[in-house]
Amino acid sequence: MPTHTVLVTGGAGYIGSHACVELLNAGFKVIVVDNLSNSKSESLSRVQQLTGKTLSFYEADIRDKTALTQIFANEKPTTVIHFAGLKAVGESCAQPHLYYHNNVFGTLVLTEVMQEHNVKQLVFSSSATVYGVTELTQYHEELPLGAINPYGRSKAMVEDILRDLAEADIKNKCEYPWKIALLRYFNPIGAHESGLIGEDPNGIPNNLMPYVAQVAIGKLPQLSVFGDDYPTPDGTGIRDYIHVIDLVRGHIKAIDAFNTEKFSDGNCKAYNLGAGRGYSVLEIVNAFENVTGKKINYKISPRREGDLAEYFANPELALKELNWKVEKTLHDMVADTWNWQSKNPQGYK
Ligand SMILES: NC(=O)c1ccc[n+]([C@@H]2O[C@H](COP(=O)([O-])OP(=O)(O)OC[C@H]3O[C@@H](n4cnc5c(N)ncnc54)[C@H](O)[C@@H]3O)[C@@H](O)[C@H]2O)c1
Repeated sequence: MPTHTVLVTGGAGYIGSHACVELLNAGFKVIVVDNLSNSKSESLSRVQQLTGKTLSFYEADIRDKTALTQIFANEKPTTVIHFAGLKAVGESCAQPHLYYHNNVFGTLVLTEVMQEHNVKQLVFSSSATVYGVTELTQYHEELPLGAINPYGRSKAMVEDILRDLAEADIKNKCEYPWKIALLRYFNPIGAHESGLIGEDPNGIPNNLMPYVAQVAIGKLPQLSVFGDDYPTPDGTGIRDYIHVIDLVRGHIKAIDAFNTEKFSDGNCKAYNLGAGRGYSVLEIVNAFENVTGKKINYKISPRREGDLAEYFANPELALKELNWKVEKTLHDMVADTWNWQSKNPQGYK
């Protein structure tokens, strides 16, 4: 069987670096394109150390068509996993142009270059933020979309663009049609069990788990729990947390699915990647204290605008069509986060 070459945009980042490990271990050749705007190339050195395999790294921006064209000509990838993007909701509200330019225009340039090189298998990092506010707490893929901030809308716009590309090829009975998986992530946390790679946020973390980990290590004084008066059992918000290794394995399952009947005439399909159950903020804090033996100093703060009480994935479609489901436990997620944080208190620095 010929070696498949997978080009990974954003491969130096949190999820991308874990994907590189799984791809290399599964025998794929890996090419990373990353502008290092939110990551360090040290993550890729660690990936190679961990796997004993090499990858090719290009420090480039996906919006740079000349650079991207050269990379595609040199490396001849067969598939792209597209992680490159900006991801902070608050920042996207303050700087919407930056988010649309990076996430939407960046994807346009990428898919244009892919099309020019007849590379038409794409796995895209979408997000549960594309769903609208609904009465339901469990989200399935057919729910109407209705993102409520520029970050979520940038993901929804890219989904629309990718659906249109696939549909055009199907209508035209194209010989090599687009095969696209839109993977809607819930809340990725955790790290590789080696503790060599993990999430290394710039500045103050936006997400709960790295925040808790930095409080535990003494880097941050206190966690703010936003709202304890939600209609949930302990009053704090409930989210569907997914171990980053389970998450990246879903990407390999999606690549496998491109060879199945589901995608044989071309297709663009969305799949939720989540556990299908949620944990509250206080459950995460308690689990962290139990696993690490560290006390997490927290205070209750007012609710944040736009936060929902509870939502989690319906992951049945990914099980049925990708043969994927989560395997890691809450204990794994917490223990692996702590292993990474305690071995790397300053991240990759
Ligand atoms: N982490 C989450 O909670 C989460 C949830 C849902 C979806 N996602 C999506 O998954 C993807 C990966 O997320 P992550 O958590 O690994 O983020 P990350 O910031 O760690 O990784 C993104 C990588 O993309 C790179 N990048 C950004 N813009 C680029 C550009 N124009 N050209 C080249 N490289 C660029 C960054 O330097 C970084 O290495 C993102 O698209 C994000 O929106 C993340």
